[in-house]
Amino acid sequence: MSLANRNLVTIDNISNGEIEALFSVADEMADSINEQSGLCQGKIMANLFFEPSTRTRLSFEAAMLRLGGRVITAVDIGATSLAKGESIADMAKVVGSYADIIVIRHPWEGAAKVVADYAGIPVINAGDGSHEHPTQTLCDLYTLRKERQTIKNLRIALWGDLKHGRTVHSLIYALARFGATILFYPGPGLEIPEHVLKRLSTEYKGELQRCGALNQELKGSVFPVDAIYMTPSSPHQLTMLPDVNIQVELEAGVDALYVTRLQKERQSPTAEQQELKKNYPVVDKKLLTGKEFKKTLVMHPLPRVDELAYEVDADPRSMYFKQAAYGVPVRMALLALLLGAKDVAIPKADDSFARKVDYPVYKRDSGVKCLNRNCVSNQETETKYIKPEFKIVSFDPLTLRCIYCEHELEPQYIASSEWHQGKLENKKYHSANSHWVRKIKPENLIIFPSEKEAQAHQFKPSAWNRQ
Ligand code: CP
Repeated sequence: MSLANRNLVTIDNISNGEIEALFSVADEMADSINEQSGLCQGKIMANLFFEPSTRTRLSFEAAMLRLGGRVITAVDIGATSLAKGESIADMAKVVGSYADIIVIRHPWEGAAKVVADYAGIPVINAGDGSHEHPTQTLCDLYTLRKERQTIKNLRIALWGDLKHGRTVHSLIYALARFGATILFYPGPGLEIPEHVLKRLSTEYKGELQRCGALNQELKGSVFPVDAIYMTPSSPHQLTMLPDVNIQVELEAGVDALYVTRLQKERQSPTAEQQELKKNYPVVDKKLLTGKEFKKTLVMHPLPRVDELAYEVDADPRSMYFKQAAYGVPVRMALLALLLGAKDVAIPKADDSFARKVDYPVYKRDSGVKCLNRNCVSNQETETKYIKPEFKIVSFDPLTLRCIYCEHELEPQYIASSEWHQGKLENKKYHSANSHWVRKIKPENLIIFPSEKEAQAHQFKPSAWNRQ
């Protein structure tokens, strides 16, 4: 399998073996950074950054220039025709005819997928709203591998704004896939989204345990966490004596503490934001004197604000400037591979930590919409051509996952497109909690957000609904 002409929209677009292959190319780039200028000569990268960036934008530019390619850039939505009401799809088609590869950062979740769907050239997601930031994850994993040689069985604590931090969302799935144990330490009110935790517990083979009550008992004695995802190869399994085993896990210390800032641009500037800021946890020299942090790498995707004290910079455990510096060789490797300028053998990697799940797809005009207001599928300029599309990730309860932003919803009403004997009097809708959800074949399933919508499609309530 080659990486040429592929997209990197989510971390799931690249397998463990491909990540390892990319890292071997990144090592090569780092060792001979001044000798790569022939690799992408004549190629053009379009850098579309519609949110602020220092590291991602400039390291992509540096990477392309080091490879001998050229860069065209747009950094302000207001200076593009998006500001005149042009759709992302039209922009993608046009830029796809000017460049060989697109790097896009956009405030809407799912925007990078739309660009990838329409550009006709490889597209790299440099951050889409709170959704994902897969190339940051590549830099993070590369740093961990450099420092610890492996990711398997590492114990990684995620700290700060786990609700809005797109870097942690991509990182979580990658860590679970590589067999790491994850400890969640969110700022108050900034817990990891339910759909991310749910996915973690259904698509990866470890165990997820909430630790709220236990933390109260342990306050002050060990590193407090909100939840823990324990990899299957961990010596302590949660099913037997979960509290005792969590305690053992916590006392064992962490290999890396991944700190993130409060994403204030994702919240309205209210008194609530002041409260979040006031209670935001800070990593400083004092915290790092705890025995659980003795050998801990301190990581941060940067930029930092107040959550990581400057006094930590001189500590040999601090990794964040290395992480940022690795952005150039890692992105050089990615660009060269996606552009087909470099070929690499893909090693057979251990991918036994994830389940392979092929979910049925739901795509009908039945009124079901993603509930995430920041999803690209809900934006006025995009609804003219984007039809809501979901994966059916569960039938009990019926749960749909948006293919753009991956938020989930649990609709309440269903029907079949093949009603009994084709007679109109049998055109009935049912509760999504009834046995019909399993009886109707997924390809015939019609899902409604409300009874009103079902009736607008000329369906009548079944006897069950009338009760
Ligand atoms: N880590 C990261 O995405 O940094 P920038 O926002 O500066 O690109």
